[in-house]
Amino acid sequence: MAKGLIAVLAILVFGALTTARLVHAQAAERCGQEIVRAQCSNCHDRGLHGAPRIDDRLAWTPRLKTA
Ligand code: HEC
Repeated sequence: MAKGLIAVLAILVFGALTTARLVHAQAAERCGQEIVRAQCSNCHDRGLHGAPRIDDRLAWTPRLKTA
C-alpha cells in the first residue's frame, strides 16, 4: 500500500517537474521584435556609428539592391 502511494507520488512529482520545464522552455523563446528591440535598436533606432535607421527607407534601398 505505502509502496503504491510512493510510486503514484513519484509519477506526479516527475510529471509536474517535466511540465514546468517545458513551460519554461516556451517562455524563454522570443519573437523577432523582442530580439530586434534588445539587440539592434541600440544602433538602428538612432543611426549610431552610421547605422541605417530602421524607418529610413532611403538608407535601406541601395543595401537591399546589392543582395
Ligand atoms: C553596434 C551597433 C549595431 C548593432 C547593435 C546592430 N547594427 Fe546593424 N549596422 C550597424 C552599422 C554601423 C551598419 C552600417 C554598416 C555599413 O554601412 O557598412 C549596420 C548595417 C546593417 C545592415 C545592412 C548591411 C548591409 O549589407 O548594408 C543590416 C541588415 C543590419 N545592420 C542588421 C542588423 C540587425 C538585424 C541587428 C540586430 C541583430 C543589428 N544590425 C545590430 C550597426 C549596428
